[in-house]
Amino acid sequence: MPGGENQRGATDAQAVEALACGGLVILPTETVYGLAADAADAQAVAAIFEAKGRPRFNPLIAHVADAAQAEAIAVFDARARALADAFWPGPLTIVAPVRDRLAVCDLARAGLDSVAVRVPGHVRARAVIAAFGRPVVAPSANRSGRPSPTTFDDAVEETGHAAADAVDGGPCAVGVESTVVSVLDGRIALLRPGSVTREEIEAVVGPLDEGGEGHRSPGRTTLHYAPDAPVRINVDRAGEGEILLGFGPGVGDPRWSLSPDGDLREAAANLFRRLREADRQKPAAIAVSPIPAHGLGEAINDRLKRAAGFVG
Ligand code: TXA
Ligand code: MG
Repeated sequence: MPGGENQRGATDAQAVEALACGGLVILPTETVYGLAADAADAQAVAAIFEAKGRPRFNPLIAHVADAAQAEAIAVFDARARALADAFWPGPLTIVAPVRDRLAVCDLARAGLDSVAVRVPGHVRARAVIAAFGRPVVAPSANRSGRPSPTTFDDAVEETGHAAADAVDGGPCAVGVESTVVSVLDGRIALLRPGSVTREEIEAVVGPLDEGGEGHRSPGRTTLHYAPDAPVRINVDRAGEGEILLGFGPGVGDPRWSLSPDGDLREAAANLFRRLREADRQKPAAIAVSPIPAHGLGEAINDRLKRAAGFVG
């Protein structure tokens, strides 16, 4: 059971069995750990919202094994298909009109006419989903508002109490959640920056649109990713009792650095883990060095701004 020894290292078969019985499963992905359930099972999906303390207006991402399974539940136009071809399996979520309303139940979509779908890059996640045979919804396995878990232990600590099983897939390689784009009514908008960068997306489908009606992510309006300690961003030097998460050579204590070499990929992979580790020290505040705005820096700065309480 959750938190116990036997939970470490559930096999793929045990995870599939738990999903089929309506249970929740902690599932590793390449971005962050997820808390997974059968997307068609409203009762199991309700248990996810309960375990996370997540507002019901915030829809979940359906995880599928391949693009064919994605197109069975969502309606893709040519550009959605081009994005799927370019980035799947991998950390890109596509929001498109829903095709199969039963496969991803109303509660999972928060009643919307669109559905968010992705094919995760992590082999364990994809193996479990392929063996299960149907879409699996999986929000990040943190309690609502807190930093996403990027290690097995952090995931179990956050929502393990509600999970029937937990799959240990090692530390997450990417460390920030998937990029979310909406492809609706012939327009494409970036709803959540992530490790697939704006530049990489525009290289495939051309300039992104501003968004507008329907192109909105209901989950992005609340305080997010926040540790207990206050977070101060764009800071060069830590104040009294503060911990500085540095970026680049010679900035702060290297043990707390997001990336001593100033590497954005490394900083993304370290971000949530460092926030959690720093929080355990109960500092006066967690200060964070300026992070460049380009490429993966857009996703890192987005998470940091929200952790610091600048939302909107
Ligand atoms: O990397 C990830 O995407 C991770 C791993 C576990 O796959 N999952 C994840 O899920 O981050 P979650 O639930 O924490 O974030 C899903 C985001 C939310 O901001 C939600 O509002 C948005 O996707 N979303 C889901 N369905 C949507 C829809 N139909 N329209 C607009 N936004 C949607
Ligand atoms: Mg989340």
